[in-house]
Amino acid sequence: MKQYILAVDEGTTSCRAILFDQKGRAASMAQKEFRQSFPQAGWVEHDAAEIWQTQLQVMREAAADAGAGEIAAIGITNQRETVVVWDAVTGEPLHPAIVWQCRRTSAFCEKLKAEGWEGEVRARTGLLLDPYFSGTKLKWLLDEVPGLREKAERGEALFGTIDSWLIWKLTEGAVHATDVSNASRTMLYNIHKLEWDEHILGKLGIPRAMLPEVKPSSGLYGHTRLLHESGVEVPIAGAAGDQQAALFGQGCYDPGMAKNTYGTGCFLLKNIGKSPIPSQKGLLTTIAWQLDGETTYALEGSVFTAGSVIQWLRDGLGLIAHASESGAIAATVPDTEGVYFVPAFTGLGTPYWKPDARGMITGLTRGTTSAHIVRAALESIAYQTADVLGAMGSESGIGLRELRIDGGAVANDLLVQFQADLLGVTVIRPRMLETTALGAAFLAGLGVGFWDSTEELRELWELDATFLPQRDEAWRRSVYSGWLQAVGYQA
Ligand code: G3P
Repeated sequence: MKQYILAVDEGTTSCRAILFDQKGRAASMAQKEFRQSFPQAGWVEHDAAEIWQTQLQVMREAAADAGAGEIAAIGITNQRETVVVWDAVTGEPLHPAIVWQCRRTSAFCEKLKAEGWEGEVRARTGLLLDPYFSGTKLKWLLDEVPGLREKAERGEALFGTIDSWLIWKLTEGAVHATDVSNASRTMLYNIHKLEWDEHILGKLGIPRAMLPEVKPSSGLYGHTRLLHESGVEVPIAGAAGDQQAALFGQGCYDPGMAKNTYGTGCFLLKNIGKSPIPSQKGLLTTIAWQLDGETTYALEGSVFTAGSVIQWLRDGLGLIAHASESGAIAATVPDTEGVYFVPAFTGLGTPYWKPDARGMITGLTRGTTSAHIVRAALESIAYQTADVLGAMGSESGIGLRELRIDGGAVANDLLVQFQADLLGVTVIRPRMLETTALGAAFLAGLGVGFWDSTEELRELWELDATFLPQRDEAWRRSVYSGWLQAVGYQA
């Protein structure tokens, strides 16, 4: 009996795997962190071989509770934009993976901007010219790794985002594919024509032969024999970038519905339906998913540092011993007394797009305590979200009435209430906070008929709590103008 879908959630700091039952409830879960490497200021790398080994281990752990024939399909979701290149014969990575947060191509992006390429990139890919995306990272590798370009031209070196890497490994080299939502984050994919963009590939000197085949987010990718010791084949039937998967897992199937995920960074995505709306306000136009032959688009605001600011309070400043303490410490003071924390550790994303901006704390007085700083750090997550929502509202002309939230940090009621107060909108927290993994499971489940339709999936969404705004407009204006002034020093 096929009772489960296994979701593979490969994030920026850890690999997770969750077994979901027919009701969308987690039957088991395994998680393991992997190493982060910062070889130079502003650079971030991962070991793709370690990611693969860690991911396989947690998949097997999570699947151990299910019998060999009980898993109907695997759905994959992943940190997006991160670039892996590997040897098509040995299956070994040819360089450490360059992570989405890495700023190493900042100067090259500036050069392309000066040459007038920003408009081209925006029109073709829906993205901006920023080191965040895969394209310039891949070009950097092709330029810097001796012999890589020639190998790639001969089809002996392959490129993929993490979904692609995992699919290739899981199928033992049989399938080199990516899903369309991940492709839309590479800066190499034309989101109108739905194909790799020859013009941009030409400009960056990227050989076509190294690119994966682009497939729908739901449907058969291939099979793996590596999950169970018996070698029984399990279909891989869905894939999506983690933020798009969260939008799907939150049940945001209708245009206008939006979610914000509070993870390492914060990513706010709004479903905009079947046609891509270009942004003038620093938002990204991206592919949400492709299902039943139809492509759904989203507008996205990307905040690079959110939950990781709490990690920094712990690891960088030693102000807290555990991330979970931050809410209680922040609650010991009624406000920050004018302290603002701008956590631009790896630059600023939406709506500023300043890769070289750096973090700072403003408004310190002799009376400032660590509690004020912890509170300001937490509030910075909400302020950055307000920046994104402001851009989104002015773009579409329609403000949001409610926002669905998920991700680790939303267990923190103080943060969520502050968010509702600051936005003046109702914030809704679902019972299942692992919506990224759930979204991947949903896509795979639809792919094999485990679930029939999004209507059926809508019924599985369950409410945990609703946070209503409790402050007035004057308060909102006053605290937000302080933030805009602080962030203005960097932006
Ligand atoms: O675009 C980067 C994003 O996909 C990373 O997500 O959850 O690993 O912080 P996360």
